[in-house]
Amino acid sequence: MRADVQPGDVLSALPEHPPAMPGGEDEWGRIFDDVRSIIFPGLTHWQSPGFFGYFPANGSWPAVLGDLLSTGLGVQGMLWQTGPAMTELETRMLDWMARLSGLPERFLSSGPGGGVIQGTASEATLVAMVAARHRLRVGQPQIDPRTLVAYTSTQAHSSVLKATRIAGIEHLRLVPTDARHALDPDALGRLIERDVANGLVPFYCCATAGTTGSGAFDPIDQIANIRNSMAPHAWLHVDAAWAGSAAVCPEHRGFLEGVEQADSYCTNPHKWLLTNFDCDLFYVADRAMLIDALSVTPEYLRNAASDSGAVIDYRDWQAPLGRRFRALKLWFVVRHYGRAGLQAHIRQHIAWARWFEDRVLSDPRFELAAPRSLSLVCLRLAGDRDADTRALLEAANASGQVLLTHTSLPDAQGRDRYTIRVAIGGTGNTFQSVQQLWGVLASLADADTGVR
Ligand SMILES: Cc1ncc(COP(=O)(O)O)c(C=O)c1O
Repeated sequence: MRADVQPGDVLSALPEHPPAMPGGEDEWGRIFDDVRSIIFPGLTHWQSPGFFGYFPANGSWPAVLGDLLSTGLGVQGMLWQTGPAMTELETRMLDWMARLSGLPERFLSSGPGGGVIQGTASEATLVAMVAARHRLRVGQPQIDPRTLVAYTSTQAHSSVLKATRIAGIEHLRLVPTDARHALDPDALGRLIERDVANGLVPFYCCATAGTTGSGAFDPIDQIANIRNSMAPHAWLHVDAAWAGSAAVCPEHRGFLEGVEQADSYCTNPHKWLLTNFDCDLFYVADRAMLIDALSVTPEYLRNAASDSGAVIDYRDWQAPLGRRFRALKLWFVVRHYGRAGLQAHIRQHIAWARWFEDRVLSDPRFELAAPRSLSLVCLRLAGDRDADTRALLEAANASGQVLLTHTSLPDAQGRDRYTIRVAIGGTGNTFQSVQQLWGVLASLADADTGVR
């Protein structure tokens, strides 16, 4: 399952120079021979039943079909005019997904807000940050951009730090977390207070709904209240890259409490909602601010439809100009599975994760490193045994039956501890493969492999 190659193996199997002549007879036979012998062994197989690493990268045949059609059509949707159906299907899909997920009205396209498909959650975080800076500077042009401060938790995804680097934001505060690894709102308040006293200007806060490490949910409502009272001009972005898919199930949407106060929100159907990469849904409450921040119009892009103000040009909602027809695959997925099918997809994974969590809780050799979050279970060997936990993970991966990844999470004493993440939710996962995973971990913990 894990790529069985050393660095440089694939490179050295490929000719240094491109062919001078066309492929000729049976070119596809030879090309696919190479795919089988060079490429396949050099891949880590994310769709394998035993893949539980990172977060899943879902795929489904309706999404593949949508992507194929999109690629075949080869349309560019930078402007409404360059693909009217592409633009309007995307608008409708973003509204559908907002309704399916119980998102607040303010993110629907019928009001001042609306949604767009970004490639990734990292891009959503970045464009939200750029819009946040723009909004602040429109309102208060005298503010020195070097004084702007962004906030997120120590457990937030690294894309927030990267966004500050790309956007040239000099100050990022990593807010401490509580015992459940969620952002501590009191600590946020203290940091804002200190920054304001020092003449700095809070302008952006990224709350995470479902952190990468442990799936923790930052308290969006409390964060919004602090923002409202202490830094009312700051933009609140909610990163629900992974967990947002679970919001299609009403019983799993509690983490959205307070999201009606957010300025933007994003989630990735390409992680856990059956839609092949890439597909990040990014919503803003005030699209005018985003468009104003990102719109640059050279003469060659001018057209009557854009000038009329009656259409959406999605190029103004993202960093690149060009864009693929990604709404097509989402449309196919939602039409094929319907609300009930999407819910069943999420619910089965959460049920399997509960089963797995019960195994961990009932086996004294293991302990949970964090409360189970939806379909993510974080565990380690009981006691002070980080090196053994690491050896267990390595042995499990070496078995070739499963693939797991790790993180580091603070324990009750605040010490960073080696943690195995079991991220259930791959399209290839089955209940049998989850049972097999438990079997692998339990037997390795038993065996005399140095893991004990
Ligand atoms: C919470 C969170 N945010 C952002 C990301 C980055 O996602 P993307 O690859 O879409 O940028 C991840 C990836 O796992 C994530 O877990």
